[in-house]
Amino acid sequence: MIVLGIESSCDETAAAVVTDQRAVLSNEVLSQLDAHRPYGGVVPEIAARAHLDAIDRITARAMEKANIGFSDLDAVAATGGPGLIGGVLVGVMTAKAIAAVHNLPFIGVNHLEGHALTVRLTGDRDNKEISFPYLLLLVSGGHCQLLIVKAAGSYKRLGTTIDDALGEAFDKSAKMLGLGYPGGPALEQWARHGDPVRFDLPRPLKGRAGCDFSFSGLKTKVRQTIEQLPEGPISDRDKSDICAAFQNAAGDVLIDRCNNAIDRFLSDHPEGTHLVVSGGVAANQSIRSRLAALCKARDLSFAAPPVHLCTDNAAMIAWAGLERLQKGDVDDLSFRPRPRWPLDPDAPAALGGGVKA
Ligand code: KG4
Ligand code: ZN
Repeated sequence: MIVLGIESSCDETAAAVVTDQRAVLSNEVLSQLDAHRPYGGVVPEIAARAHLDAIDRITARAMEKANIGFSDLDAVAATGGPGLIGGVLVGVMTAKAIAAVHNLPFIGVNHLEGHALTVRLTGDRDNKEISFPYLLLLVSGGHCQLLIVKAAGSYKRLGTTIDDALGEAFDKSAKMLGLGYPGGPALEQWARHGDPVRFDLPRPLKGRAGCDFSFSGLKTKVRQTIEQLPEGPISDRDKSDICAAFQNAAGDVLIDRCNNAIDRFLSDHPEGTHLVVSGGVAANQSIRSRLAALCKARDLSFAAPPVHLCTDNAAMIAWAGLERLQKGDVDDLSFRPRPRWPLDPDAPAALGGGVKA
């Protein structure tokens, strides 16, 4: 089986082709970073127009690199939400048009399911397939959740953020420190040579029961810490030390919450073997190694997609589409994009405003 996937829900225009043999035949990603950099964040209107300008070219390139024609495809998948609606519409309409012209099934994929299932495409360290159920920490710019992945399309949410997503907290803290955009990767670089204990930052919800997250207090304390520095430009030393303190505090929170989630996962699924991390923040090496150490202590295996498949891409959308296709779960051309689309529809609504799922 061969599936073309299209991703356009945020600031990457991406197209990829994958097979049921877990091969990525092509994976094209065009970042819009330069278009959004002057604004310090993603501007939805600019993103939608940029997707429209690029999507035909990126899709054609993905097909060319895969060295196949549209008649070789078994389905076309596109991110159908959650995300910025203008961009999602561009990807969905492009995929529907290809599906209609070439008489192929269309699949509207949940972007979060793309992140959730990427490790089933990329496998474990020995390239062995990771089987259900597994525990998933999904950490991106818009989401921070702990989920049990029971099967494609079947998720139990154990916890979510009650305010900011972790990627958002990385980005906003980086912005306050003037580290440029995007903030997450920059903050990680600055943290590398910093002293993590010079500044005392909070660990919200650490030690409390449950698996929810909160990061707005951490972000606020970063702002207060910056305000208390001597007047003038922030020194490189201070920047590095604040970044290291932030990353350390965020890591402590993740470990604490994952520990509670592991208890619940193993009590519901004693046969479970893996903790998986995915989403843009999973590209962070410090967080990856701390989670790997936690897994070792809890006698679980740790898995994460390679860094370039942690941030948004279309290979994960093609793969999630392929898993849906294998189950016969396809959409038709009446599919409507969903700006909000929780993976676990039975989970109670998150407390915080602005939380998408
Ligand atoms: O999954 P993603 O590409 O887009 C969403 O679906 O949100 O995640 C983007 C987020 C951004 O907040 C970005 O700053 C963060 O992932 N990110 C990182 C790193 N690389 C990307 N955060 C921390 N460390 C990184 N190395
Ligand atoms: Zn994403």
